[in-house]
Amino acid sequence: MEDKFHEFYKKPPEERLKILKEFAGLTEEEAETLRNTGALGIETADRMIENVVGTSELPFGLGLHFLVNGKEYVIPMCIEEPSVVAAASFAAKLAKSSGGFKTSSNDPVMIGQIQIMGFGDFDSARRAILDNKEKILSNANKRDSVLVSFGGGAKDIEVRKIESKIGEMLVVHLLVDVRDAMGANAINTMCEGISPLLEELTGGYVRLKIISNLADKRLARAKAIWKREELEKSTKGLVKGEEVADAILEAYYLALNDPYRCATHNKGVMNGVDAVVIATGNDFRAVEAGAHAYASISGKYKPLTKYYKNDEGDLVGEIELPVAIGTVGGATRTKPEAKVALKILGVKSAKELSEIIAAVGLAQNFAALRALATEGIQKGHMRLHSKNIAVIAGAKGNEIDKVAKKIIEDKNISVDNAKKILEEIRK
Ligand code: MEV
Repeated sequence: MEDKFHEFYKKPPEERLKILKEFAGLTEEEAETLRNTGALGIETADRMIENVVGTSELPFGLGLHFLVNGKEYVIPMCIEEPSVVAAASFAAKLAKSSGGFKTSSNDPVMIGQIQIMGFGDFDSARRAILDNKEKILSNANKRDSVLVSFGGGAKDIEVRKIESKIGEMLVVHLLVDVRDAMGANAINTMCEGISPLLEELTGGYVRLKIISNLADKRLARAKAIWKREELEKSTKGLVKGEEVADAILEAYYLALNDPYRCATHNKGVMNGVDAVVIATGNDFRAVEAGAHAYASISGKYKPLTKYYKNDEGDLVGEIELPVAIGTVGGATRTKPEAKVALKILGVKSAKELSEIIAAVGLAQNFAALRALATEGIQKGHMRLHSKNIAVIAGAKGNEIDKVAKKIIEDKNISVDNAKKILEEIRK
């Protein structure tokens, strides 16, 4: 059978599109949706990945009202899901009266892993590596003089023993300060570069040499307080602030104790995180992998956020997660919208961006929990409230339920509306 896709990668995009059109029976209009490559342009797209026939787009929205460490940020968010941007903005607005988000983060240190096999005695191999730590680090740093000139580079080494069914493995962790880069390229080049030296020192052989996406040395944190008054206002005064806080805590404790809920809880966090990671041209798979691995690091899958009440009865939310992103290199520079997104954010470093991302993750999660946990209560309160209004309007007996139901349906819970409905019922 003829291979229609023979040497597909060698062909120019327009020719590839022609082959695809024929293969999938695409109409000219359908082919045009792929050909219409927007800001990225076909040449850039073709240089970024393989077998390119076009591009795919996402809406670019703005998360608003974010006050982070006393500074206002406008947050570019790229996502296909409705309500995410509005929810994050709403949560940020509610947090403003208590000072918004306070954030912090570690130095941008990433881990490179080198797996060594066939080394004989683990302790001797380990000693040989640690005794030659400076030599290994300077060998690694030779591979990226630019990073070193910016104050980054390989800083430390850890040696770990991994037991497995096929025997013991020695895993070297090369800890590299990657400054404003995501770091994968720098790390992978360094790990590759030092492998012959590690083989020489241990007498073993290197199998894998690659970055770890469990970037637990590069954590970003954010904290916010949602005041009781704000929580109450968020329900249009229908539910007491304390009651909203308690409802959110109940939702949080389910996530803390049940992986089925926890996955969804963390998905809500990642709605916000990924939207900013994508807008800024960063690798969202790396951030996702890191986040979920970090959520399970204790051996139990846990929420990335936590909630508690302070002495005033306000709700405090906190988040901590690895955020391996960059503001230089990769698609942050090749994707035109990513460059614009970084300009809108006005961030000075990857560290600052990682903290903003943590704040958005927390805001997103808070917004989801608030909506989910209070929906039932609000409905309940609304029912009670609407019955009172019906009574005030003069409804009696079974008229009360009829009027109450109708004013909720109308989304107009007012005495005037109740009176109008009552008249109609009595006609
Ligand atoms: C939907 O994308 C995200 C939520 O399911 C998160 C959650 O349940 O916490 C609303």
